[in-house]
Amino acid sequence: MTVEYQFPEGFWWGSAASATQMEGSRNGVSGETIWDQWFENEPNRFFDGVGPHQTSDFYNRYKEDISNMKKIGHNTFRLSLSWARLIPGGQGEVNEEAVTFYNNVIDELLANDIEPFVNLFHFDIPIEMQNRGGWESREVIAAYVDYAKIAFDLFGDRVKTWFTFNEPIVPVEGGYLYDFHYPNVVDARRAIQVAYNTMIAHAKVVDLYHQEQNGKIGIILNLTPSYPRSQNPADLKASHICDLFFNRSFLDPAVKGEYPEDLISLLEEHGHLPETQLDDKDLLENNIVDLLGVNYYQPRRVKAKDHLPNPYSPFMPDWFFDNYEMPGRKMNPYRGWEIYEKGIYDIMINLRDNYGNIESFISENGMGVQDEDRFLKDGRIEDDYRIDFISGHLKWLHKAAQEGCNVKGYHLWTFMDNWSWMNAYKNRYGFYSVDLETGERTAKKSASWFADVSKQNGFNA
Ligand code: NOJ
Repeated sequence: MTVEYQFPEGFWWGSAASATQMEGSRNGVSGETIWDQWFENEPNRFFDGVGPHQTSDFYNRYKEDISNMKKIGHNTFRLSLSWARLIPGGQGEVNEEAVTFYNNVIDELLANDIEPFVNLFHFDIPIEMQNRGGWESREVIAAYVDYAKIAFDLFGDRVKTWFTFNEPIVPVEGGYLYDFHYPNVVDARRAIQVAYNTMIAHAKVVDLYHQEQNGKIGIILNLTPSYPRSQNPADLKASHICDLFFNRSFLDPAVKGEYPEDLISLLEEHGHLPETQLDDKDLLENNIVDLLGVNYYQPRRVKAKDHLPNPYSPFMPDWFFDNYEMPGRKMNPYRGWEIYEKGIYDIMINLRDNYGNIESFISENGMGVQDEDRFLKDGRIEDDYRIDFISGHLKWLHKAAQEGCNVKGYHLWTFMDNWSWMNAYKNRYGFYSVDLETGERTAKKSASWFADVSKQNGFNA
């Protein structure tokens, strides 16, 4: 039988998840992260008052979960290590129980022919590190490099695909601009320092990896293509600025080893250049990534601030943008984000043409749904909307691959319904639903569909 959308041989089919969102922060021995601290301080800011200790309990049920991954044809799976679990104080003593846990998970994945992709940092800085200045501090960068070394030494013999950070812009936006992550600062200057220091930490870890290990290391970026709302020069400029700020301030140093000139002049103009050190430039230049993970959910539709002030954000400098109101656009009716499948293709073409066709994969794409139980039929969630969402994106990804883009795989966010930052269990994303009372996992319709896709290495529309 011919398959209409046939992907290149060896395509990575899988999903992604993160430590804080699935392990359960009070399972086993672990240090605390900013999430535990923030939940303690302000539980009411979390949906239904549910904190990071009430997760899908991967810590105790990983065997069952990995066997489910195998059932639906995963050949790869991305998880993150919890820095605070591995080294409870952020620096210093290693927690042997965590070593056993991560060894078990890695071995179980390999025994099921699923290659582990391991990410070192997914929004969960240990509270001690935050108290010492977080990513604003060079001392914390040094501690992160020590943590990476420990992780590589412990697991690098079996893990051959590593990532330094997941969506590094998010802690910047959340923690230092828009008040949706601890430490809830709203300060552009500090935000820019955090963004910059994150890339310094990233480059140091890439350097270390290349010196001591023999697999691949990359970074995971949420690339949001910027489309101007009109051809008005102010909107065009705002859109360009958004691209510089949200995409290229990470993409360029990671893949090209340098910051875009336009970004530097923009920051200079606004007196926002970060503090740097002498050898930073060489460090960035010499440590570009081996591969790039791309998280894609929705694009930015940009209109200059002077055309439409953004009422939602506490932070809005003159040169900023607005991203709301989307007349005529296809929306996810169950969550409110725009669905624009072609965005995934535009990203890939940009990587092909402007970033040396770096090896890449879709490291997250997915559809959050509120009150998903309404789609329960005979005990399983009939999520045809998710199948449409995934196949819609895969068609464009297929086209990109056909046109020579170096794209190697597709991971859904996420394997099973899990805890989200502030939103807790409000939006469900998984292939598997999780009963929060009993912990029972049930495959949704999309899980069976995806099993066929990975088996055939493609699908028919
Ligand atoms: C991006 C993040 O990596 C993940 O942690 C989050 O839950 C999903 N997107 C869904 O918003």
